Amino acid sequence: MRSFNFSAGPAALPLEVLEQARDELLDWQSSGTSVMEISHRSASFVRVAEEAESDLRDLLAIPSDYAVLFLQGGATGQFAAIPLNLTVPGSTTDFLNTGIWSLKAMREAGRYCSVHVAADESASGYTSVPAPSSIKLTPGAAYVHYTPNETIGGVEFPYVPETGAVPLVADMSSSILSRPIHLSKFALIYAGAQKNIGPSGLCLVIVRRDLIGNARPGTPSVWDYQAMANEGSMLNTPPTFGWYIAGLVFKWLKRQGGLAVIGERNRAKAAALYRAIDASEFYSNPVAHDARSWMNVPFTLRRPELDRRFIEEAAAAGLKNLEGHRSVGGMRASLYNAMPLAGVEALVAFMQDFEQRHGG
Ligand SMILES: Cc1ncc(COP(=O)(O)O)c(C=O)c1O
Repeated sequence: MRSFNFSAGPAALPLEVLEQARDELLDWQSSGTSVMEISHRSASFVRVAEEAESDLRDLLAIPSDYAVLFLQGGATGQFAAIPLNLTVPGSTTDFLNTGIWSLKAMREAGRYCSVHVAADESASGYTSVPAPSSIKLTPGAAYVHYTPNETIGGVEFPYVPETGAVPLVADMSSSILSRPIHLSKFALIYAGAQKNIGPSGLCLVIVRRDLIGNARPGTPSVWDYQAMANEGSMLNTPPTFGWYIAGLVFKWLKRQGGLAVIGERNRAKAAALYRAIDASEFYSNPVAHDARSWMNVPFTLRRPELDRRFIEEAAAAGLKNLEGHRSVGGMRASLYNAMPLAGVEALVAFMQDFEQRHGG
């Protein structure tokens, strides 16, 4: 029996996608092989790859002056690839430090260029986002980097920072495709696949074409955006199975009605869980209300000695993978696109029952 899986990533995939992948695993499109067992250069796989890109372009309304790259090396690879492609030695980059992932991105970029912290939420214990007016940008910076959704802290920007002519770079690993966005506000978006896209091993980069073509000498070819764009992300063998599953997920998203429908669903899911947390004296969430994530909801118990019990009893009730990140403890419920409202309702009912039994 399938559980409700609250894992932060790799995370739950839509059941329909898994069922389709299962049904066609052994004999894909009457080829007598699985999709994993054919050349990435075969006409049938190239069709899969192109359709996935075109469905993604529809979903996010990506115009033709942006390249879409299907890469490897995860979002962590991009922490280095972005400065390698968008800076020269001596460039300054601005970073909004809002949590563990922006910190990691910043530290890696610091190996290649100068990093200026344009906003720093560490004093709040990473439970807030900066007020727009408090962000101190460097005129002429190579780019501004931020993490719209901090997966570990459960902190999400309710706005897109204004950076004028300076390119805005966003690590959307845990928020891509969770609601509509205005793509033109971003110069580069990147996202590891393993939350809202598909299995791990694939990383999407959506980048304005005028920014590519100037990678530093010495940049590995597989992370040179121009080299990859020239080859349709097939300079070498791509993660074909991940790309295929991503394509099925994009089609599933379109069948749901696209990102406006998905966004409304995600808003309602998160609201139901925060409402239950706020209505109780037993559970709490430390994040400022205007910065609460729709995707990752950390919460603690008034009696932390019961954490283990909570996680075990929840798992026995079919509510899996609720442990918080090892660096923060407590619990975390990740509510990516594949989590249905019924999963959140089941979690809320379990939480209320647990509180009744242990809250006194
Ligand atoms: C916001 C964010 N950025 C970056 C990463 C790192 O991704 P990867 O493990 O694909 O390198 C993660 C992983 O969970 C993440 O949530």
